[in-house]
Amino acid sequence: MIVDFNKKNKIDFSGFVKFNPFYLKSMFSNTDVSPFWVAETDFLAPPGVSEALKKIANQGIYGYQYKTPDLKLSLTGWFKIRHNLTLETSGLLFTTSVLTGLAAIIDEFSVAGDGVIIQPPVYSEFKSIIKNLNRQVINNPLKITDGKYRIDFEDLEKKASSGTNRIMILCNPHNPVGRVWTTEELRQVSDICIVNNVLLLSDEIHADIIFSGHTFNSIMSLEEDYTNASIMLGSPGKTFGIPGIADAFIYAPNNALRETIKSRIMRFRLGKSNAFTNAAAQAAWLSGGEWLDDMINYLENTIHYIEIFIKEELPDITLTIPEGTYQIWLDFRKLRLDEKELKYLLTKKAMLGINMGRQYGSEGSGFARMNIASPLSMIQQAMEQLKTAIND
Ligand SMILES: Cc1ncc(COP(=O)(O)O)c(C=O)c1O
Repeated sequence: MIVDFNKKNKIDFSGFVKFNPFYLKSMFSNTDVSPFWVAETDFLAPPGVSEALKKIANQGIYGYQYKTPDLKLSLTGWFKIRHNLTLETSGLLFTTSVLTGLAAIIDEFSVAGDGVIIQPPVYSEFKSIIKNLNRQVINNPLKITDGKYRIDFEDLEKKASSGTNRIMILCNPHNPVGRVWTTEELRQVSDICIVNNVLLLSDEIHADIIFSGHTFNSIMSLEEDYTNASIMLGSPGKTFGIPGIADAFIYAPNNALRETIKSRIMRFRLGKSNAFTNAAAQAAWLSGGEWLDDMINYLENTIHYIEIFIKEELPDITLTIPEGTYQIWLDFRKLRLDEKELKYLLTKKAMLGINMGRQYGSEGSGFARMNIASPLSMIQQAMEQLKTAIND
């Protein structure tokens, strides 16, 4: 291993959102929980990233920056090598975060009152940005068949054909349920969007965290008719454990769509570059592959441990084995607790800062999401705390 993922890194966490007492109190009513809620890693980043950042820091001159051709090529090179996906540098735009990009695009391509389709249980910030822009949240809930989350295409067709639901956000891989959508599923979603003139935004921020037996398919891997009608958003943040310094890219091969987004980014100054951000991203895309392979192996081992622990020690909990992402989705419904009781169990008895599934939509009631990109010993400790709390 290039870095020791088992190591508990003792650094100054005081500025980390994950440990912020205000958030811990408002989410878990307890500032003493062990936090496994933010989708980020506890691991040291790829050494190439730290070296690149040190080099920038040591230069001592910090002028305005832009996205250089080399940076863009490191991005397109990464997608080619990692996912056999050809992206043209001319299709790229950059903004400060994926959520900034999503909000700007929604605001640009719809008006107040329009609907934006999402697929709950899904990353809760989608709902927040839609509501904050005075658009309507239109739910196309995922359904579970044979223990697997699937898209309800019939319902999607209904929602997409309303005439006022103009945009859809697809989460691929899906946070929190961990599905990595197949090419067939992507085509079906895209077909429905195209026929109904719904703009498809594909949030692919978790694209690189894919487990054995699964292949990531970007919306941009489909045929031209599909890629022209959609916009992909991504970032090196989750992949390389650098969400606090990463910004985001937007990929729009359709010239008209891209020019409109570009104009929005310029009008609202949403594309300011940062020397550290740029250096980190470029170093990560150029040299982070081996580190990422190691991390994925490590995460698979952790998932295997959790799977066995739950089977043997917590038979009333069901783990949805993730196909991708470092979040796990735990089903507590067999315990027959209401939301208040489940929250008490998790946050007051088990002392765990893990997200209530309800946060991701009513479909998540009875579930919880746990981030597992931490040293195995911390995950083991958390599982023991859960066991003690449940058996108490
Ligand atoms: C699906 C998804 N999209 C976007 C984000 C946030 O990305 P950013 O920090 O670039 O806004 C997250 C973070 O957890 C996420 O899970």
